[in-house]
Amino acid sequence: MSEYLLEVNNLTKKFPIKGGILGREVGAVYAVNDVSFKIKKGETLGLVGESGCGKTTLGRSLLRLIEPTSGEVFFNGVDITKLDADQMREMRRKMQIIFQDPYASLNPRMTVGGILAEPMEIHGLFKDKEERRKRLLQLLDQVQLPADALNKYPHEFSGGQRQRICIARALAVEPEFIVCDEPVSALDVSVQAQVVNLMMDLQKDLGLTFLFIAHDLKVVEYISNRVAVMYLGNMVEVAESHELYGGARHPYTKALFSAIPNPNPNVTHDRIILEGDIPSPMNPPSGCHFHPRCWNATDECRGSYPPVTEESLTHAYRCYNPNQVSK
Ligand SMILES: Nc1ncnc2c1ncn2[C@@H]1O[C@H](COP(=O)(O)OP(=O)(O)OP(=O)(O)O)[C@@H](O)[C@H]1O
Ligand SMILES: [Mg+2]
Repeated sequence: MSEYLLEVNNLTKKFPIKGGILGREVGAVYAVNDVSFKIKKGETLGLVGESGCGKTTLGRSLLRLIEPTSGEVFFNGVDITKLDADQMREMRRKMQIIFQDPYASLNPRMTVGGILAEPMEIHGLFKDKEERRKRLLQLLDQVQLPADALNKYPHEFSGGQRQRICIARALAVEPEFIVCDEPVSALDVSVQAQVVNLMMDLQKDLGLTFLFIAHDLKVVEYISNRVAVMYLGNMVEVAESHELYGGARHPYTKALFSAIPNPNPNVTHDRIILEGDIPSPMNPPSGCHFHPRCWNATDECRGSYPPVTEESLTHAYRCYNPNQVSK
């Protein structure tokens, strides 16, 4: 058996842009463009990048909640892009997702018990009422909610508690892999740490594998073993999280991570302020999509997209001039 749970090869998702009275395709957004990476069993891969760079589209494409345009997604050695609807339904039990807004993703008319039981009923996971009740109480216990939550409705809970309900619902079908799409971004800072710590404990206890999407780089550094950086649909760098803080190769990653204050007062680094806006994904720049904002760009960068350079087993990037001096 491979040590990798997930292996993604050349994944692309193109959204056609329709226009005119005939609704013809007038353009396209490559929300995810030729992305390849692997995630080890039990590992957390963090995913960061500016708003609109394709993080959510990538996460959903992995579960085929959005159909990828091309590419392969191997889960436990099976290319799930080739599965039919029935096979995919069965596979989805092993691949769950948690969303940013815990309220919008919970049915307000269902009790917590009903919400948690639903996915298990769909997959026929318990024989009788007694087994159902035992499993529901176990799930609440796993996310540290009281047993009387079963008969309550989502509005009776705080944001952090609602996210615990969403986590419990994802766990109900005993998944191996969970896409966490900004699961703590909508929560108060004081609650974020509790939920992140809960997720880390659950990961250890249940042997889960996470793709953890977030804007907050400190949260990502804390929870992730490795971090992937996206820019305009492309994955531009992947490395162990500590390597990215100080050891980033791609100028975009350098800029992103320079914004994080270093807790050690003896280490100072200048913040890199990027000039220009993120370009339109409908009309991306030629060559490396980052070149109009890059202070090291050369004709080569304008000409073609840089191939992947694997500097070590844990560090890869797509840049022609990774060792130029910082801005
Ligand atoms: N259904 C859709 N149809 C057309 N374009 C879409 C669709 N969904 C997403 N996009 C476009 O794809 C790109 C990537 O969007 P996505 O939501 O994946 O970004 P993101 O990195 O998750 O952003 P954020 O940090 O704001 O959540 C954006 O340009 C977005 O406008
Ligand atoms: Mg998103």
